[in-house]
Amino acid sequence: MAPSATSVEADRSGVALETASDAIDSVNILKAQAAAKVKQSAEEVFSESSKFDAEKDKNGFRQYDDACDRVKSFYREQHIKQTVAYNLAARMRFNSASRTRERMTIWEAMEKLNTLIDDSDPDTELNQIQHLLQTAEAMRRDGKPRWMQVTGLIHDLGKLMFFYGAEGQWDVVGDTFPVGCKFDKRIIYSDTFEENPDYNHPVYGTEFGIYQPGCGLDNVMLSWGHDEYLYHVVKDQSRLPAEALAMIRYHSFYPWHREGAYRELMAEKDYAMLKAVQAFNPYDLYSKSDAAPSVEELKPYYMDLIDEWFPKKQIQW
Ligand SMILES: [Fe+2]
Ligand SMILES: [Fe+2]
Repeated sequence: MAPSATSVEADRSGVALETASDAIDSVNILKAQAAAKVKQSAEEVFSESSKFDAEKDKNGFRQYDDACDRVKSFYREQHIKQTVAYNLAARMRFNSASRTRERMTIWEAMEKLNTLIDDSDPDTELNQIQHLLQTAEAMRRDGKPRWMQVTGLIHDLGKLMFFYGAEGQWDVVGDTFPVGCKFDKRIIYSDTFEENPDYNHPVYGTEFGIYQPGCGLDNVMLSWGHDEYLYHVVKDQSRLPAEALAMIRYHSFYPWHREGAYRELMAEKDYAMLKAVQAFNPYDLYSKSDAAPSVEELKPYYMDLIDEWFPKKQIQW
């Protein structure tokens, strides 16, 4: 059935994008907590002093199920539409000489994202700038290097692509995965790939598909979204090290950095990148519960940091 005009409109709003993105994050957080709980439960079995908290557990799983229902329909659409053909077209569009690329500084991009996504939503607990600042601030508190702090500050700016001709939410947010080879079972809701035209493709449907074992993730086409878009924007327009680019490009690549899939595609270099992405992930997921930072107070510190890593100032988006 064709979606109604209002539901299409709702889908296209920044608030709807952020609602979907938040639900996706909460599933990732609850999954991490469930994994920790399983570990903890095993430890508790061997400890005589503590009792297993069944009630708390039930609540956690109920929350997880609720978030899952909304997120599952999002992933069903994404898993059907992220094909090799779509991904090639998205990259052609990105690189096309006729594409008008807006020019903005990093800080202007942060403000623009804030306006587009949050301004019309009075219920938003945390705006885009605050999530970016919280991620960076948590890293700064832990004494992480300046290049990592600036990476935390910019990591979600790719969501701007939603307003530059994305097809929907499904090609902006959500976990990412390689296209062009068999979809791994460790991808969230992997059963929803069955309707993807590449699923039974004679090449793309095979274990390695268009890739070679050990070919390196630099040579793997990851599903198009805010991570991949921002990676393409900043790789030639910043002084950021490879680890920072990996944190940007792979931060939603959960089947790889958390579930252990796609190891056979990795080259030597990717093991260091994996460590970097795993070090980044908790700051993205867990800094949201920190107190809201003061944008005006922090701005001078981060303006300096941006200048250090983005000498050109004006970025082509
Ligand atoms: Fe993100
Ligand atoms: Fe984030």
